[in-house]
Amino acid sequence: MGSNWRWRRWLLVLCTIIVSGGASKPEEPLVTRIAFGSCANQSAPQPIWNAIIDFDPQLFIWLGDNIYGDVRRPFKLFGKERTIGPWKNVPRFVPSSQQEMESRYHKAKTIPGYSRLPQTAKVIGTWDDHDYGLNDAGKEFSRKVNNQRLLLNFLDEPQDSPRRKQEGVYASYIFGPTNRQIKVILLDTRYHRDPLRSDGSVLGSSQWAWLEKELNGPKTTITIIGSSVQVISNLSATTGPLFYLESWGRFPKERNRLFKLILDSKREGIFFISGDVHFGEIYRYDCATGYPLYDVTSSGLSQAVEKAVPGSLSLIVRFVAWLTPTTMRVMNQNCRFRSCTYGQPNFRAIEIDWSTTPVTLKLEVRDVNGYPVTGVKFPLLELQSLSMNSVPSIKLGTHRRHCTLEVNLPWIVRYRLAILFYFSVTGTSYIPLLNY
Ligand SMILES: *[C@@H]1O[C@H](CO)[C@@H](O)[C@H](O)[C@H]1NC(C)=O
Ligand SMILES: *[C@@H]1O[C@H](CO)[C@@H](O)[C@H](O)[C@H]1NC(C)=O
Repeated sequence: MGSNWRWRRWLLVLCTIIVSGGASKPEEPLVTRIAFGSCANQSAPQPIWNAIIDFDPQLFIWLGDNIYGDVRRPFKLFGKERTIGPWKNVPRFVPSSQQEMESRYHKAKTIPGYSRLPQTAKVIGTWDDHDYGLNDAGKEFSRKVNNQRLLLNFLDEPQDSPRRKQEGVYASYIFGPTNRQIKVILLDTRYHRDPLRSDGSVLGSSQWAWLEKELNGPKTTITIIGSSVQVISNLSATTGPLFYLESWGRFPKERNRLFKLILDSKREGIFFISGDVHFGEIYRYDCATGYPLYDVTSSGLSQAVEKAVPGSLSLIVRFVAWLTPTTMRVMNQNCRFRSCTYGQPNFRAIEIDWSTTPVTLKLEVRDVNGYPVTGVKFPLLELQSLSMNSVPSIKLGTHRRHCTLEVNLPWIVRYRLAILFYFSVTGTSYIPLLNY
């Protein structure tokens, strides 16, 4: 009996070798549902994870401010530590110690809801300023090397991963079976970034070289480029001089370089995802490459502009959002609010329907209960340009939606927020040019 058994076992092993040698690697599963989000305060309740888990994404992408790692001092005009005003003597944000960062990451990772996500979804991500370690920080920030390790630990990056050896957390992934692949490129907009207002570099030369290779590499049906800060929207152009936000728009030379790289790569099916701003919205720019470039912003999972103000003021926030001139925001009937921005906690749901011809793409911002608050649905064909090399041009002095830059709006439209602010402060009620 013994020898008979041994003989059968050998036969089994032989068969296994033949079968596994003959068949190719098992195909990767088709990816149809991706979620992403940003701006999650580890000390605040994060009920939104229930809605994300209900959506059942196969992939979840962190787009930064995955924790709030720095220390924020209160606004103080007088007293010992003054954070604003002419007598300001301390910065408003300061980095926290390594132990503190580690303990905040630990808190974030064990949040009920989020801690269940990795059981059903692959989780990847990049960072923004607060998890990089300091509000609005760039390449000058000295703790970046250490904090890179902390982020990669949080994301369970393998110890031998090349991502632990490079300068910056940028990375790329390919998911899905042959001919239906999705590439995800995650940028690092912090590690190499020159100071704001310098019009210097956002990505730095090593990351630019890497990105060029990634975009020119093997084609995929869809390519998602994740940037912590917004790529298409340039809110600062219309909210200044009242306030300014971080974005690629603040680095016009780098932004043009990015668009040119995409154009030259002739890569189709690209869209952007972003975070940072504490509200959700969808942008679209038709005049950068041969096809519309979408930028879907989801921010934040817990941090949101309407939550930052007392309840009665949320209507004012919505009014300001509606009043802010925008040439690129997608406005349609799918929005919960007229402004088509959403200032409550939100996440982004991306759905790809591979069964239709052509393939359709649905991009939605969803609220804490999983209901859509703004969204677009279009055939992927829309991102497959027939005239890849022709960037539509518009005549000087004319304005076209999704094409004219905000800085080229007539000044009375461009600055209407500031004008309204001025007149409300000086007590005159006059609202210039509401309908643009
Ligand atoms: C995070 O939440 C805690 C608790 O609600 C709050 O005290 C803290 O100020 C929040 N941090 C930020 C950056 O909003
Ligand atoms: C974005 O707005 C800022 C502030 O007005 C301006 O300096 C910058 O040139 C704008 N960028 C683009 C690409 O229009």
